[in-house]
Amino acid sequence: MNKILSVFASLFTLMACNCNEPKPEAATCSDGQAIIDNIMTRTSVRAYTEQTISNDTIETLLRAGMAAPTAVNRQPWHFVAITDKDKLNGIAEANPNAGMASRAPLVIVVCGDMNKALEGSAREFWVQDCSAATENILLAAHALGLGAVWTGLYPNMDRAIAVSELLKLPETIVPLCAIVIGHPAESPEPKDKWLPENVSYNEYKN
Ligand SMILES: Cc1cc2nc3c(=O)[nH]c(=O)nc-3n(C[C@H](O)[C@H](O)[C@H](O)COP(=O)(O)O)c2cc1C
Repeated sequence: MNKILSVFASLFTLMACNCNEPKPEAATCSDGQAIIDNIMTRTSVRAYTEQTISNDTIETLLRAGMAAPTAVNRQPWHFVAITDKDKLNGIAEANPNAGMASRAPLVIVVCGDMNKALEGSAREFWVQDCSAATENILLAAHALGLGAVWTGLYPNMDRAIAVSELLKLPETIVPLCAIVIGHPAESPEPKDKWLPENVSYNEYKN
């Protein structure tokens, strides 16, 4: 009986989706809108409750980061997850715009690993690779009901050097940013950034 009900439920979902083409397993028609909503409602959150974040959740966030695309699939990154209070304070001190880190339970520092980066002029692709990982973590945090904000380090070398010293990073590991994460104690409105004049079709039009 349960089996028959589940077949009907699947058929109903397919009909409701009005999918014309088969979809990959991980992104069905019905959760597509939820994923778009998650992207559109993400906003920087800079105030957190005192609730800690479980190790399982931290791993989920790190897995989301490592699911990002990278040039030639190099994955030229290293992530430092920080829960230690002194280190969180250190992140706040390293960047004058990251004071919220001293009041957060978690910071993930996303670093480029120069030993894994591409050679020559393609080396700088590490910044895009690590930025893609950062956005994945921000979106995953939002989807899990957490609040997060990207705080920039590299190419501000004062901040990058301060964080390198704090985390004892070798010279080949460059900290791009510190993602400050916690259970939200504020709910800022997402910004509507859609500006049609920022788009051209087929060729640039001013
Ligand atoms: C490269 C980069 C560096 C940023 N650095 C900081 C920072 O140091 N401190 C901070 O509070 N927010 C920082 N932000 C967050 C931006 O201020 C925020 O994303 C922007 O105002 C848009 O708001 P939204 O994230 O709510 O859409 C940074 C964002 C990026 C992409």
